[in-house]
Amino acid sequence: MIDYRLRTRIVAGEGAIERLGALAKEIGVGKAVIVSDSGVVDAGLYDSGARSLAAAGIETQGFHALSENPTTTHVDSGLEIARQFEPDLIVGLGGGSSMDCAKGINFLYSCGGKMADYWGVGKAGKPMLPFIAIPTTSGTGSEMQSFALISDPDTHVKMACGDSHAAAAIAILDPLLTLTQPPKVTALTGIDALTHALETYVTTKRNAVSECFSREAWSLLSRGFPRVIEDGSDIAARTQMQLGAAFGGMAIEASMLGAAHALANPLTAFLGVPHGQAVGLMMPHVVRFNHAMVEHRYEELAHLLPNVSRDDRRSGAEIVADRFTDWLRMAGLATRLSDLESWDGSQDSSRIEEQLHAMSEMAGKQWTGSFNPRPASVTDYLALYRTAM
Ligand SMILES: [Fe+2]
Repeated sequence: MIDYRLRTRIVAGEGAIERLGALAKEIGVGKAVIVSDSGVVDAGLYDSGARSLAAAGIETQGFHALSENPTTTHVDSGLEIARQFEPDLIVGLGGGSSMDCAKGINFLYSCGGKMADYWGVGKAGKPMLPFIAIPTTSGTGSEMQSFALISDPDTHVKMACGDSHAAAAIAILDPLLTLTQPPKVTALTGIDALTHALETYVTTKRNAVSECFSREAWSLLSRGFPRVIEDGSDIAARTQMQLGAAFGGMAIEASMLGAAHALANPLTAFLGVPHGQAVGLMMPHVVRFNHAMVEHRYEELAHLLPNVSRDDRRSGAEIVADRFTDWLRMAGLATRLSDLESWDGSQDSSRIEEQLHAMSEMAGKQWTGSFNPRPASVTDYLALYRTAM
């Protein structure tokens, strides 16, 4: 059964951030907390948002004390600011971390309790403050999702807290905001978005609606990614990446993700590998692992790729996996576990084995893996890590 409603209004185009104040006014609010990390502030993007709100007569308060993979500690600090300021709008202006943290603050400010109370789906169960999401990277698609990913600062476990009330009322997609990203961030977030298009197209939960978003995300991202890696100032390519990432987020909302994300989370938790690098490195191996179950779907995606010859004799999975590896190389990212900066190859082999086993156990516990088209056991995850070595 399909139950689909577009909850988030999309306002997209060059300079769209200038409409923030007018859009907030339309919602009928007067006080906004803007959640942006310090990088967004330094790039001057926070000021663009605050200026637009001020011009519309909306009082603003910034919250910037957050970092990558926001934790409950960051959310609690933001909550403190919100309680003092008493906003009627939350704005998340930044990458996935800023938007996730903004959603987390909204959960606690609007509904009380602690972040762990909302771990799962539909735990808020009541309206929250209106939320406007303004991404400055093209990656997570958080602007189109009802999930906040908030980590436990002690265990590093990422809590996925989802509720339809947490979804943004409006997503402002302004490609000019993504021009200030360092090349490495463009590469990491772009690869992450590509894995979203690819994984969502084959999960057990996919449906006809999510497939539309996955296909369009794949087409846009596979064309935009090589261009944006070559020339970060290519605004047309930035636009493709931004829309592709948002469509990927819309696909995730219906279809969830798969084994590449299950394998990536332990790499981040154990070795501190950035999410885009972790999930990108594992992706080609997961495609080959899934091949027999969903080859026809990989063939469809292979046909959508630019520059694939009609005479190419490789399977769809091979074409997609090889192209993915090409993108990693093009972006200067590692293609093997043993090439990761944080991988300590000097350890003795028993220590490495111990680490691979611990990561596989953790991968086996990831909810996201349960939607992979080919069921994956802890033994399968171990084999996939070994292949990726
Ligand atoms: Fe991801």
